[in-house]
Amino acid sequence: MAERRLIIISNRLPVTVESREDGPARLKPSSGGLATGLRAAQESRGGTWIGWSGDAGAPSPEVTAALAKHDLAAVPISAEEIESYYRRISNQCLWPLMHSFDERMQFRKADWHRYVDVNQRFADRVLSESAPEDLAFVQDFHLSLVPRMVKQKRPEQRVGFFLHTPFPSAHVFRTFPERRAFLEGLAAADVVGVHTSGYARHLLDCFRERLGAHISGDEAILDGHRCRVVVRPLGVDSCDWETRARSEAVAKEMEALSAAFGDRRLLLGVERMDYTKGIPERLRAFELLLERHPEWSGRVHFLQVAVPSRLGVEDYEELEREVATLVGCINSRHGRIGYQPVHYQFRGVTRDRLVALYRMADVCLVTPLRDGLNLVAKEFIASRIDGRGNLLLSEFAGAAQELRGTPVVNPRDVEDMAEKLHRGLSTGEDEERRTMAHLREVVASNTAGTWMETCWTDLADDEGRGVPAPLDEGAARRVVEEWGTAKRCALVLDFDGTLVELQDDPEAVVPPRLVLDALEALAREDGTHVWIVSGRDSAFLSRTFRSIPVGLVAEHGAVISWPDRAVHRNAEGDRDLEVWIEAPRGDWYELARERMEAVTRSVAGSFVEQKSTGICWHHRKAEPSVGLAAARSLHAELSNLLAGRGVRVELGRDVVEARPADVTKGEAVERLRGAGHLDVDALIVAGDDTTDESMFEAFGERAHTVLVGERVSVARWRVGGPSDLRRLLGALADLRASGDS
Ligand code: UDP
Ligand code: G6P
Repeated sequence: MAERRLIIISNRLPVTVESREDGPARLKPSSGGLATGLRAAQESRGGTWIGWSGDAGAPSPEVTAALAKHDLAAVPISAEEIESYYRRISNQCLWPLMHSFDERMQFRKADWHRYVDVNQRFADRVLSESAPEDLAFVQDFHLSLVPRMVKQKRPEQRVGFFLHTPFPSAHVFRTFPERRAFLEGLAAADVVGVHTSGYARHLLDCFRERLGAHISGDEAILDGHRCRVVVRPLGVDSCDWETRARSEAVAKEMEALSAAFGDRRLLLGVERMDYTKGIPERLRAFELLLERHPEWSGRVHFLQVAVPSRLGVEDYEELEREVATLVGCINSRHGRIGYQPVHYQFRGVTRDRLVALYRMADVCLVTPLRDGLNLVAKEFIASRIDGRGNLLLSEFAGAAQELRGTPVVNPRDVEDMAEKLHRGLSTGEDEERRTMAHLREVVASNTAGTWMETCWTDLADDEGRGVPAPLDEGAARRVVEEWGTAKRCALVLDFDGTLVELQDDPEAVVPPRLVLDALEALAREDGTHVWIVSGRDSAFLSRTFRSIPVGLVAEHGAVISWPDRAVHRNAEGDRDLEVWIEAPRGDWYELARERMEAVTRSVAGSFVEQKSTGICWHHRKAEPSVGLAAARSLHAELSNLLAGRGVRVELGRDVVEARPADVTKGEAVERLRGAGHLDVDALIVAGDDTTDESMFEAFGERAHTVLVGERVSVARWRVGGPSDLRRLLGALADLRASGDS
């Protein structure tokens, strides 16, 4: 295979073209975390970057050539599209939606049509710039439809999508009129990356609720396609920030700044001028600091750098006016000759000046109302080669998930923010150094380069996994024919969700008469063996298959009942059972039971099932999103709690199960095979849940492994539901019956 290339696709290129009347166009670095963060990531991997130049219309040949030198390819966007696709849909509709400012959202159908057109243009460009083996990595909410558009033309191409903003909760997202198209666009990607596990959960909820996707762990399965949603917070190139922080140029900047600020303390805010960043709230907190702690008056400056952004969008212009007014008020109320409390600049700074500011700040305020990640927080930490400085971080910045240990604030609580500013300014050197040392370790361990490598691996590594092929009519016919010509045959079948549909009350499940008849007919044939291999307890299975000569393997293999025991029943009329895999309950069992019962109390409709070897928490009767969220956290909690105790904690279909690690269905079928019970010419193995994967793996190509349902699996085939499997069993049973007649 030719060498795979990485193709990055984003609305904005990392450089913006500025056309000038009096000379050739100028290229300048774009602002915003996507451009700065990904630039470093792309440098570590190489490859082409497709995006908009920031200018209206097609770029001139000179600009195109200048961009090509940096491996950048510009997609032309007309002046009208800048208004509709970029300003209105991207900035006035999707941006507020993603940040849960849904009351700011504006939507017009005509603009949406332009959004679709521009997305199509980007997708076409991906197809023309890349080969099918290349990895296409689409960035951010402007291009939500591109993954699907690329996949429609070239299903074999690996496509990733990364969302640099938050993803809102399902009830906020449903306010968006084109929610379905947006979600279908994303779900067509092979991998979707987000910055935090909360955003991932929200997105998976939307895939399930809005598209009806089947969710299994971090995967969404829709129409046979698997989309993984992974949590990959972007990092910064910490070595680069450190090197710059040590440079002569930065030292000079620091000197100049010291001359301007004198020995006054410095509070710093740096961001694009955006209403998500909480700039007015921060200014109010600073004013409150001066009022509540007058000892700081004359001793501290607050410098706010606000980079102009999305000019021409109403909300942004309004914010600019609000900030300018607030700054004026604070300075007139608290300033005096020789002391201007707030220094505010509504323009960007050079990288050297930025690093000098990071190095000199006593407290860096990163207090957005909501922010996907926030790279400024990480850049500040990476620049603090002196190990000093305080970061005050909003709990609503995605970065707060990683940067634990630094003080966090709710930016709407201005009084608390003022107090924490006071505390930040008063922190002792030892404490400051301790916290900063820890933060620097965290930032250095996840750089832009490692982020890119992880995303590359996510996208490239998919060998051997996928959704099984459908067992369509033709394939089913061939399986049945093979069965018909075989001398010795065997069926290995899971029970719930495979032979019968999952039901709210598991005790009340009774297989349809026709299935029992078909199984009985098959089991009584010479040379045919039928095994039910289930996680159910032995009492239930023995009752259900009381007089049918199928072999029963209960509790994932802990208990067995041999086929002939159905005929030779014990005194009570029940089948004889035998402990098959010795697995005494350890003290872990009690721990798991306590945790499961605690979760049961908080999730209505959930319940605990105790078996002789294992224990399960079921949520099939609970509200789906509540049940799923609780299952994920219970699974994580039990995995930690029971680690090293020889226990397997599994997240199955509407269930979390803990049981001895060596009791698996895979182990059980290996034992059957080892004892010669599955020495046959035709073998069909069917199951629906993740616990059935070990059976599929045990047989590999030696069996027709059939997944009941739709998800990624090692099985060869899939059928839609238990009724399809029952039809197949009926056909197998009829085969000999008609052959006999
Ligand atoms: N930044 C910039 N010019 C400036 C000041 C800051 O390009 O004058 C950069 C800053 O270094 C950071 C980015 O803008 O990399 C802001 O990214 P962040 O993730 O904090 O927020 P976003 O703008 O993406 O919402
Ligand atoms: C955020 C978005 C980026 C965007 C950047 C700057 O970081 O996630 O996609 O590029 O803001 O915004 P702009 O509208 O100027 O591209």
